[in-house]
Amino acid sequence: MKQLIFFTLLALFIVACGGSGNDQNANVPPPKSMIPDPPKDDGKGIGEFKNVTLNDPLNADMAKNGKAIFDLKCAACHRLSDKRIVGPGFKGITDRRKPEWIMNMVTNVETMLDQDPAAQKLLEECLTRMPNQNVSANDARDILEFLYQNDVES
Ligand code: HEC
Repeated sequence: MKQLIFFTLLALFIVACGGSGNDQNANVPPPKSMIPDPPKDDGKGIGEFKNVTLNDPLNADMAKNGKAIFDLKCAACHRLSDKRIVGPGFKGITDRRKPEWIMNMVTNVETMLDQDPAAQKLLEECLTRMPNQNVSANDARDILEFLYQNDVES
Protein backbone atom coordinates (compact mmCIF):
# COMPACT_ATOMS: atom_id res chain seq x y z
CA MET A 1 0.00 0.00 0.00
CA LYS A 2 2.78 2.44 0.93
CA GLN A 3 4.47 1.63 -2.36
CA LEU A 4 1.28 2.49 -4.27
CA ILE A 5 1.05 5.90 -2.57
CA PHE A 6 4.70 6.51 -3.33
CA PHE A 7 4.25 5.76 -7.02
CA THR A 8 1.08 7.84 -7.22
CA LEU A 9 2.88 10.82 -5.73
CA LEU A 10 5.82 10.26 -8.03
CA ALA A 11 3.49 10.20 -11.03
CA LEU A 12 1.79 13.43 -9.93
CA PHE A 13 5.19 15.06 -9.46
CA ILE A 14 6.29 14.12 -12.97
CA VAL A 15 3.03 15.37 -14.50
CA ALA A 16 3.31 18.65 -12.59
CA CYS A 17 6.88 19.19 -13.75
CA GLY A 18 5.98 18.32 -17.31
CA GLY A 19 3.13 20.84 -17.21
CA SER A 20 5.17 23.75 -15.97
CA GLY A 21 7.88 22.91 -18.50
CA ASN A 22 5.38 23.26 -21.33
CA ASP A 23 4.18 26.61 -20.05
CA GLN A 24 7.70 27.92 -20.09
CA ASN A 25 8.14 26.78 -23.66
CA ALA A 26 4.97 28.59 -24.70
CA ASN A 27 6.49 31.91 -23.62
CA VAL A 28 9.54 31.52 -25.82
CA PRO A 29 8.84 32.94 -29.29
CA PRO A 30 9.50 30.53 -32.15
CA PRO A 31 12.58 31.21 -34.27
CA LYS A 32 11.94 33.65 -37.15
CA SER A 33 12.35 30.92 -39.75
CA MET A 34 9.29 29.17 -38.30
CA ILE A 35 6.91 32.16 -38.56
CA PRO A 36 4.95 31.86 -41.84
CA ASP A 37 5.05 34.78 -44.29
CA PRO A 38 1.82 36.83 -44.46
CA PRO A 39 -0.45 35.44 -47.20
CA LYS A 40 0.25 36.94 -50.63
CA ASP A 41 -2.47 39.13 -52.17
CA ASP A 42 -4.01 36.92 -54.87
CA GLY A 43 -6.27 39.70 -56.14
CA LYS A 44 -9.40 37.81 -55.08
CA GLY A 45 -10.15 40.00 -52.07
CA ILE A 46 -11.30 38.83 -48.65
CA GLY A 47 -14.57 36.99 -48.15
CA GLU A 48 -16.48 33.81 -48.89
CA PHE A 49 -15.85 33.82 -52.65
CA LYS A 50 -12.69 31.90 -53.56
CA ASN A 51 -13.60 30.53 -56.97
CA VAL A 52 -16.29 31.96 -59.23
CA THR A 53 -17.19 30.09 -62.42
CA LEU A 54 -18.12 32.43 -65.25
CA ASN A 55 -20.80 31.80 -67.86
CA ASP A 56 -19.97 31.73 -71.55
CA PRO A 57 -22.19 32.93 -73.11
CA LEU A 58 -23.52 35.27 -70.45
CA ASN A 59 -26.81 34.36 -68.78
CA ALA A 60 -29.33 37.02 -69.84
CA ASP A 61 -31.75 36.33 -66.96
CA MET A 62 -29.05 36.72 -64.34
CA ALA A 63 -27.82 39.93 -65.95
CA LYS A 64 -31.38 41.26 -66.01
CA ASN A 65 -31.81 40.63 -62.29
CA GLY A 66 -28.36 42.13 -61.70
CA LYS A 67 -29.41 45.29 -63.52
CA ALA A 68 -32.57 45.58 -61.40
CA ILE A 69 -30.50 45.39 -58.21
CA PHE A 70 -27.97 47.85 -59.62
CA ASP A 71 -30.77 50.36 -60.40
CA LEU A 72 -32.17 49.94 -56.91
CA LYS A 73 -29.09 49.77 -54.70
CA CYS A 74 -26.02 50.95 -56.57
CA ALA A 75 -26.92 53.56 -59.21
CA ALA A 76 -26.96 56.38 -56.64
CA CYS A 77 -23.17 56.07 -56.32
CA HIS A 78 -21.99 54.19 -59.44
CA ARG A 79 -22.35 54.97 -63.14
CA LEU A 80 -22.11 52.30 -65.84
CA SER A 81 -19.64 54.49 -67.74
CA ASP A 82 -16.12 55.09 -66.45
CA LYS A 83 -17.26 58.32 -64.79
CA ARG A 84 -16.73 58.46 -61.04
CA ILE A 85 -19.50 60.00 -58.95
CA VAL A 86 -19.44 58.91 -55.29
CA GLY A 87 -17.86 55.57 -56.21
CA PRO A 88 -15.91 54.56 -59.34
CA GLY A 89 -17.70 54.06 -62.68
CA PHE A 90 -18.16 50.39 -63.54
CA LYS A 91 -16.97 50.47 -67.16
CA GLY A 92 -13.98 48.13 -67.46
CA ILE A 93 -14.27 46.79 -63.92
CA THR A 94 -14.27 43.16 -65.12
CA ASP A 95 -10.85 43.82 -66.72
CA ARG A 96 -9.49 45.56 -63.63
CA ARG A 97 -10.72 43.09 -61.01
CA LYS A 98 -11.11 39.38 -60.61
CA PRO A 99 -14.72 38.13 -60.35
CA GLU A 100 -14.07 36.87 -56.79
CA TRP A 101 -12.78 40.34 -55.78
CA ILE A 102 -15.91 42.04 -57.13
CA MET A 103 -18.24 39.63 -55.30
CA ASN A 104 -16.29 39.92 -52.05
CA MET A 105 -16.36 43.71 -52.36
CA VAL A 106 -20.14 43.70 -52.83
CA THR A 107 -20.93 41.25 -50.00
CA ASN A 108 -18.10 41.92 -47.51
CA VAL A 109 -17.35 45.59 -47.98
CA GLU A 110 -16.38 46.45 -44.38
CA THR A 111 -13.59 43.85 -44.23
CA MET A 112 -12.49 44.68 -47.77
CA LEU A 113 -12.12 48.38 -46.95
CA ASP A 114 -10.23 47.53 -43.76
CA GLN A 115 -7.90 44.88 -45.12
CA ASP A 116 -7.74 44.57 -48.91
CA PRO A 117 -4.98 46.73 -50.46
CA ALA A 118 -6.90 47.53 -53.69
CA ALA A 119 -10.09 48.45 -51.80
CA GLN A 120 -8.10 50.63 -49.40
CA LYS A 121 -6.57 52.47 -52.35
CA LEU A 122 -10.05 53.18 -53.73
CA LEU A 123 -11.12 54.51 -50.35
CA GLU A 124 -8.17 56.93 -50.40
CA GLU A 125 -9.32 58.19 -53.81
CA CYS A 126 -13.06 58.34 -53.13
CA LEU A 127 -12.91 59.41 -49.45
CA THR A 128 -16.33 57.83 -48.79
CA ARG A 129 -16.81 54.37 -47.30
CA MET A 130 -19.13 52.30 -49.45
CA PRO A 131 -21.95 51.20 -47.12
CA ASN A 132 -22.93 47.55 -46.76
CA GLN A 133 -25.84 47.06 -49.17
CA ASN A 134 -26.99 43.71 -47.71
CA VAL A 135 -26.61 41.90 -51.01
CA SER A 136 -27.10 38.10 -50.92
CA ALA A 137 -24.60 35.76 -52.58
CA ASN A 138 -27.06 35.04 -55.40
CA ASP A 139 -27.78 38.70 -56.03
CA ALA A 140 -24.06 39.51 -55.98
CA ARG A 141 -23.53 36.82 -58.64
CA ASP A 142 -26.29 38.37 -60.78
CA ILE A 143 -24.73 41.82 -60.39
CA LEU A 144 -21.42 40.33 -61.55
CA GLU A 145 -23.16 38.90 -64.63
CA PHE A 146 -24.59 42.35 -65.34
CA LEU A 147 -21.15 43.99 -64.97
CA TYR A 148 -19.72 41.53 -67.52
CA GLN A 149 -22.60 42.32 -69.86
CA ASN A 150 -21.97 46.04 -69.38
CA ASP A 151 -18.32 45.55 -70.34
CA VAL A 152 -19.08 43.36 -73.36
CA GLU A 153 -21.66 45.78 -74.78
CA SER A 154 -20.29 49.03 -76.16
C1 HEC B 1 -23.37 55.38 -50.92
C2 HEC B 1 -22.60 55.13 -52.09
C3 HEC B 1 -22.43 53.72 -52.61
C4 HEC B 1 -23.41 52.79 -52.88
C5 HEC B 1 -24.92 52.90 -52.67
C6 HEC B 1 -22.72 51.65 -53.46
N1 HEC B 1 -21.38 51.89 -53.53
FE1 HEC B 1 -19.97 50.66 -54.34
N2 HEC B 1 -18.52 51.99 -53.86
C7 HEC B 1 -18.73 53.21 -53.26
C8 HEC B 1 -17.45 53.84 -53.04
C9 HEC B 1 -17.24 55.20 -52.41
C10 HEC B 1 -16.47 52.96 -53.53
C11 HEC B 1 -14.95 53.11 -53.49
C12 HEC B 1 -14.43 52.46 -52.23
C13 HEC B 1 -14.76 53.28 -51.01
O1 HEC B 1 -14.34 54.45 -50.96
O2 HEC B 1 -15.46 52.76 -50.12
C14 HEC B 1 -17.19 51.81 -54.06
C15 HEC B 1 -16.57 50.73 -54.67
C16 HEC B 1 -17.22 49.69 -55.27
C17 HEC B 1 -16.61 48.65 -56.06
C18 HEC B 1 -15.14 48.60 -56.48
C19 HEC B 1 -15.00 49.49 -57.72
C20 HEC B 1 -13.70 49.38 -58.45
O3 HEC B 1 -13.45 50.23 -59.33
O4 HEC B 1 -12.94 48.46 -58.17
C21 HEC B 1 -17.59 47.80 -56.44
C22 HEC B 1 -17.46 46.54 -57.29
C23 HEC B 1 -18.82 48.31 -55.90
N3 HEC B 1 -18.57 49.46 -55.20
C24 HEC B 1 -20.04 47.70 -56.08
C25 HEC B 1 -21.24 48.22 -55.60
C26 HEC B 1 -22.51 47.57 -55.82
C27 HEC B 1 -22.72 46.31 -56.61
C28 HEC B 1 -23.45 48.35 -55.18
C29 HEC B 1 -24.93 48.09 -55.06
C30 HEC B 1 -25.33 46.80 -54.56
C31 HEC B 1 -22.75 49.48 -54.59
N4 HEC B 1 -21.41 49.36 -54.87
C32 HEC B 1 -23.37 50.50 -53.88
C33 HEC B 1 -19.94 53.77 -52.92
C34 HEC B 1 -21.16 53.14 -53.03
